[in-house]
Amino acid sequence: MTDKKLDKLAAEERLQQLKKEIRHHDHQYYVLDAPEVSDYYYDSLMKELLAIEEQYPELLTIDSPSQRVGGEPLAKFTEYVHRNPLLSLMNAYGSEDLREFHRKLCADLGREKIEYVVEYKVDGLSIALYYENGVLQTGATRGDGTVGEDVTANVKTIKNIPLRLQRDLPILEARGEVYLPRQAFAKLNQQREENGEALFANPRNAAAGSVRQLDPKIAASRDLRALIYTLMYAEGVDLATHAECVKLLEECGFTVMQPLVSSDIEEICAHCEYWGEHRHDLPFEIDGMVIKINDLALQEELGNRAKNPRWAIAYKFPPEQGITKVESISVQVGRTGAITPIANLTPILLAGSTVSRATLHNEDFIREKDIQIGDYVVIQKAGEVIPEVVSVVLDKRTPEVEPFVFPTVCPECGAAIERAEGEAVARCSDSLTCPAQVREGIIHFASRNAMNIEGLGPAVIQQLLQADLIRNAADLYDLRKEQLVELERMGAKSADNLLQSIEASKDCTLAQLIFALGIRLVGQNVAKVLAKKYPSLEQLSQATVEELTAIDEVGTKIAQSVVEFFSQEKHQQFIEHLRKAGVSLSEEQQEESCHKEAFLHKTFVLTGTLATLDRKTASDLIEKAGGKTSGSVSKKTDYVLAGENAGSKLEKAQTLGITILTEEEFLQMLKEE
Ligand code: IVH
Repeated sequence: MTDKKLDKLAAEERLQQLKKEIRHHDHQYYVLDAPEVSDYYYDSLMKELLAIEEQYPELLTIDSPSQRVGGEPLAKFTEYVHRNPLLSLMNAYGSEDLREFHRKLCADLGREKIEYVVEYKVDGLSIALYYENGVLQTGATRGDGTVGEDVTANVKTIKNIPLRLQRDLPILEARGEVYLPRQAFAKLNQQREENGEALFANPRNAAAGSVRQLDPKIAASRDLRALIYTLMYAEGVDLATHAECVKLLEECGFTVMQPLVSSDIEEICAHCEYWGEHRHDLPFEIDGMVIKINDLALQEELGNRAKNPRWAIAYKFPPEQGITKVESISVQVGRTGAITPIANLTPILLAGSTVSRATLHNEDFIREKDIQIGDYVVIQKAGEVIPEVVSVVLDKRTPEVEPFVFPTVCPECGAAIERAEGEAVARCSDSLTCPAQVREGIIHFASRNAMNIEGLGPAVIQQLLQADLIRNAADLYDLRKEQLVELERMGAKSADNLLQSIEASKDCTLAQLIFALGIRLVGQNVAKVLAKKYPSLEQLSQATVEELTAIDEVGTKIAQSVVEFFSQEKHQQFIEHLRKAGVSLSEEQQEESCHKEAFLHKTFVLTGTLATLDRKTASDLIEKAGGKTSGSVSKKTDYVLAGENAGSKLEKAQTLGITILTEEEFLQMLKEE
């Protein structure tokens, strides 16, 4: 009885430490982009926290980092009545509108000079966050401005929204925008395409769709982020400007934008115009800039109209949509044989570049949007995504339009096109010899995130195939200089460089190689996970569906795809060809040889201050040598590495009879074989 109580007390204390430490690392990683510890170490903290919470569910609090994983699906969202309505902004469509806004404010206020702040207008979903005693209580959507939806469960999965503030404040309300970074959006749509699911039209829809999902696990899987730009209310602070509010929000642990502070309207116009041109340089989408009066007292003096404040305005960028004609529709064959219909458009200038093609995704997309050859369509460019057709302008349709008949045979090899039941994607059935699949497969193999063969782009690959110098990617390793120099536009120097990069690719990581193989549904992330689990391609090729699905990130579909890939004779031959060519098919030898017998699978706990090593270096050394680190001492601990001022952990280790190492002994152990 006493024992259990003591245990619980210790657990409670440890839980506090773990929460604090995880919170700190979340902030370093997701807000400051400056991680301090390895993923491995972070995972070990999280595991320990989960284990304690499982043992003592009564210790679970709503601000625990474990709450980020997304709990049970909700039946429906409840309504949330905002304490202050969420307003929208007046719009300015260019610098002249901004100057006019400034002139009018100067006149109304009887001033010659007004200080403004200028921020990005993030194109996402607005969100209100309510904190009590520093703990996130509610996250709510805007709704109609007065009543929104309580989406707390989803908001908690957004990693850069603190569940507990870093400042002690009794009540705080912050507002901002939830968005999906461009990269995460591209990845999400790529996955959806591979899985035959409907694509999101743009990151804003994807973000909104994720936050307004009843299953928080979906939001948790989407890599959403939030930028916070308004301190709506904070009890116990006295601030005079918007810039000060932003600083406080930053101190609380939110990700904020650093605004331009300026009283010079020309500088502000130039800033907005600059970002209009450079918006695509940012990792997230913006649809304009927001200009606000910096002085909170002046904001108050001016007040609000029914829907928008008088003291702020949105500078809207010109839309990235345009109307043009579908001249014809052709189809493209991808690396996995996927047939993608493409609209060939009358060229149109859109957001600074000429667009003449747009993806039509698949047969269903064409049918749902009722797109016909000769139609006028609204097209849209969303960040890095290929332009796409938003809708047909039916008013402009003429009797001459023709429906598109989806081909039944592959345009590149003549094999039948098949569409599996329940899938949106149709595929060429000849994965063995279809020239398009072969070509795209090699392009993928050589690409940057795969084998990273510099100088081997689509054009050179096409030349090599045409000259019959290669038939598959493994043939690249048999190329000789005298063959290469025969190719058009290939000098001796380029040939040397190309051969050198091909040679260098032999030392790629196992994850790169797995990704390069082009196994369906195995993207970069899954490849990394597989490489971590299976140290060689040989071992991976023998894995069963059951084994693979036991890995967290691997579902049945992926597992089946992996097994099916390795079961094919031609893939086995391909891998054998790579092996003979000297491509490394297992994780770096070097890494393995770092493992030391004395460290292998042993658990270390660090405590106190070490004289020469900091904690991160010490835990990295342990991990490299094959050991693990843990934050707390238990019967499972093998060694405690104790420095100066070691406290309760050292005592516990002594009671449990665990081997205690000094720093010197530890370093000595590392030196031994
Ligand atoms: S301030 C009362 N600042 O734009 C002023 N809004 O119509 C409230 N937005 O739905 C907004 N970035 O969600 C502000 N830096 C920013 C913003 C921003 C995006 C959104 C906001 C609102 C819409 C304004």
